[in-house]
Amino acid sequence: MFEIRNLRYKDILYIEKMNIRKGITTSITGRSGSGKTTLLKMLNKMISPDEGTILYEKKSVKNIDSLDLRRRVVMLPQSPVIFPGDIRDNLLKGLRFSEKPDAPDSRMNEIISELHLNKSLDDDISQLSGGEKQRIALARVILMDPEVYLLDEPSSALDEETEKTMIDFLVKHSRINKKTLIMVTHSKKIASEYSDEIAEIENGRLVKSGRVDA
Ligand SMILES: Nc1ncnc2c1ncn2[C@@H]1O[C@H](COP(=O)(O)OP(=O)(O)OP(=O)(O)O)[C@@H](O)[C@H]1O
Ligand SMILES: [Mg+2]
Repeated sequence: MFEIRNLRYKDILYIEKMNIRKGITTSITGRSGSGKTTLLKMLNKMISPDEGTILYEKKSVKNIDSLDLRRRVVMLPQSPVIFPGDIRDNLLKGLRFSEKPDAPDSRMNEIISELHLNKSLDDDISQLSGGEKQRIALARVILMDPEVYLLDEPSSALDEETEKTMIDFLVKHSRINKKTLIMVTHSKKIASEYSDEIAEIENGRLVKSGRVDA
């Protein structure tokens, strides 16, 4: 789905060759500052490489309109973006960006309950905890129904049990709906338990990549 060749970005990222396959879960791991977020941002053109190419579905991302790409390849940033208003407003923001119709309340309630958020759509977002806001931001991305999810440490603000619930749901949801899931995680345990492939970045270089043995 993504093919990266001879990529360089400043003195931060150098990746000679990396392929990310369609329809599976790939985890990206590596130390803090190794370049994981930078790599994700390249995949939906939030930043562009200084050298090299990135193909998405065989087409150079350079030749894909940025907005079009960002509707198909949606990133959940490491610090989720929250808008003033209630939960409903926050959930609908992504769909409106994608110029898609609003989702019915029933669908929004279904997703937030899958994420174990026991809240009303009318609740003000400012009252939610950090981990709850993170799950709202994830629900927003799921509603957008993109081809690819780019999730930057989606569970960093969660306790172990809630993290497990969230990742379980995400991986199942992606599998059932034939999505491509690419997630950055600090947790080797999450990476090995939930992903089909793991890519490890060290000092901006891909040092390991491969399938996880079942
Ligand atoms: N726009 C930029 N200009 C200069 N340096 C940058 C820029 N963006 C990131 N960096 C640097 O590039 C390196 C990689 O950053 P990146 O955010 O990709 O790391 P990361 O692997 O996601 O780390 P973490 O696990 O802490 O989130 C860091 O040293 C960071 O300071
Ligand atoms: Mg990061």
